[in-house]
Amino acid sequence: MRFVMSVLYFLVFFSYAAAYDPLDPNGNITIKWDIMSWTPDGYVAVVTMNNFQMYRHIMSPGWTLGWTWAKKEVIWSMVGAQTTEQGDCSKFKGNVPHCCKKNPTVVDLLPGVPYNQQFQNCCKGGVVSSWGQDPTSSVSSFQVSIGLAGTSNKTVKLPKNFTLLGPGPGYTCGPAKIVPPTNFLTPDRHGKTQALMTWNVTCTYSQFLARKHPSCCVSFSSFSNETFPPCPSCPCGCENKTKCTKSDSKLLSVVGVNTPRKDNTPLVQCTSHVPGSVHWHVKLNYKDYWRVKVAITNFNYRMNYTLWTLVAQHPNLNNVTQVFSFDYKPLVPYESINDTGMFYGMKFYNDLLMEAGPFGNVQSEVLMQKDQNTFTFKQGWAFPRKVYFNGDECMLPPPDTYPFLPNSAYQKIFGISTVIYSMLFLLIGLW
Ligand SMILES: *[C@@H]1O[C@H](CO)[C@@H](O)[C@H](O)[C@H]1NC(C)=O
Ligand SMILES: *[C@@H]1O[C@H](CO)[C@@H](O)[C@H](O)[C@H]1NC(C)=O
Ligand SMILES: *[C@@H]1O[C@H](CO)[C@@H](O)[C@H](O)[C@H]1NC(C)=O
Ligand SMILES: *[C@@H]1O[C@H](CO)[C@@H](O)[C@H](O)[C@H]1NC(C)=O
Ligand SMILES: *[C@@H]1O[C@H](CO)[C@@H](O)[C@H](O)[C@H]1NC(C)=O
Ligand SMILES: *[C@@H]1O[C@H](CO)[C@@H](O)[C@H](O)[C@H]1NC(C)=O
Ligand SMILES: *[C@@H]1O[C@H](CO)[C@@H](O)[C@H](O)[C@H]1NC(C)=O
Ligand SMILES: *[C@@H]1O[C@H](CO)[C@@H](O)[C@H](O)[C@H]1NC(C)=O
Ligand SMILES: *[C@@H]1O[C@H](CO)[C@@H](O)[C@H](O)[C@H]1NC(C)=O
Repeated sequence: MRFVMSVLYFLVFFSYAAAYDPLDPNGNITIKWDIMSWTPDGYVAVVTMNNFQMYRHIMSPGWTLGWTWAKKEVIWSMVGAQTTEQGDCSKFKGNVPHCCKKNPTVVDLLPGVPYNQQFQNCCKGGVVSSWGQDPTSSVSSFQVSIGLAGTSNKTVKLPKNFTLLGPGPGYTCGPAKIVPPTNFLTPDRHGKTQALMTWNVTCTYSQFLARKHPSCCVSFSSFSNETFPPCPSCPCGCENKTKCTKSDSKLLSVVGVNTPRKDNTPLVQCTSHVPGSVHWHVKLNYKDYWRVKVAITNFNYRMNYTLWTLVAQHPNLNNVTQVFSFDYKPLVPYESINDTGMFYGMKFYNDLLMEAGPFGNVQSEVLMQKDQNTFTFKQGWAFPRKVYFNGDECMLPPPDTYPFLPNSAYQKIFGISTVIYSMLFLLIGLW
């Protein structure tokens, strides 16, 4: 039996190879090019990136956008973003383009650049919120002036081979497609103007492309047994001593050790854990309600998780009464789905999950109303079916290690010891 379960577990675990995310079937990042004017040798375009993914944001150090020009186009200038390399502009005398590369690579500017280099929704260090968390900051844009290009909608050629890194791999972009021109409100907001030409590129995320190993794992515990098996050891290759560090290591005091790397290599605490760990503790069982404590711990020394998100799928999330100290929003990818929700930090309070260390954790409690027909402590029902941290699916413990829960008759188990345990949990603030 144990063997069968393990096999099943592996099948489930490796089943997220597909790009399609059932909890966010319409999630994508759309990159829109609006040609605003034609110039003597090309055009000026506004490029807008919209993150339509419900719970997957682009975190620091931000997005990197690339494409390949169809002809010999050059970028004369950019506002609100920049290319990482200028390339070979030696054939230009006097007025030298911003970038002459055949395949330019563009990054956002950092906050605080001079006013004349800014553009709407720019200069956020490439950080883009998820649609579910904050639609108003789920957009990033810049303006680009192109030369040696077509100068009418008949002669302009669409760029090819778009790539989006955000900040690691994982996104695949389709071809640019001409779409109906965007309408803009005039500055006085009474009239409308129209782009001269518009094309869209759609990019989708696949966790399988992003990384071989899960970046987070989940552990479970309950009031009836506070000891719980830790996250399965080393699903992510963290046993490799070159990749993890002891929490008292001298390396941690080296200046710059925490600086994020563009390739996102984590520097992980040697705990046999993955970079992020989620803990779901069944804390209290009342007659009509039950209470779960959710904690997230960051084991990565190189990463402050800005705007973190946690998605959980559990049948009782259709009846959340109260969520303490996190924001919560039900996710309804289809009308028939009502068991999924996203948790995220409260602005300026706990929306930043700090690098590994004393402040590298956030926690909350969730009060849910029981549906007496379905509620049970049997067969792991009390634990979530799926958990995503920052848009990546986390590894759940193997079903045969789920903690034991007593039968659901609350009167029997809501005894003295439970009260004492709960008070202990409250006092120490531990799981
Ligand atoms: C991208 O996402 C938006 C918003 O969910 C959706 O309307 C659009 O159809 C999606 N595009 C593609 C190509 O899937
Ligand atoms: C093009 O992208 C924009 C968002 O950038 C979106 O609002 C629009 O619906 C897209 N158009 C089509 C035809 O997909
Ligand atoms: C090109 O521009 C002409 C005139 O402005 C317009 O009639 C035509 O629909 C445009 N074609 C495309 C593909 O945008
Ligand atoms: C675009 O990518 C495809 C597949 O990776 C490649 O075959 C093609 O040569 C690329 N085109 C350009 C213009 O780089
Ligand atoms: C508590 O759970 C642990 C791990 O699953 C198990 O080893 C231990 O025997 C359990 N203790 C009790 C009292 O059930
Ligand atoms: C450990 O890391 C090194 C360097 O990254 C690599 O060469 C080696 O194959 C890794 N070993 C294991 C067991 O993952
Ligand atoms: C995380 O944020 C803190 C406080 O803003 C800062 O001191 C630290 O350097 C940051 N760490 C990383 C890895 O960016
Ligand atoms: C939740 O969805 C299930 C399955 O689609 C359905 O049977 C149930 O009635 C729904 N519950 C509520 C409260 O909408
Ligand atoms: C919550 O559960 C109660 C009791 O089963 C039920 O009456 C109520 O309709 C549920 N509410 C939602 C939003 O599902």
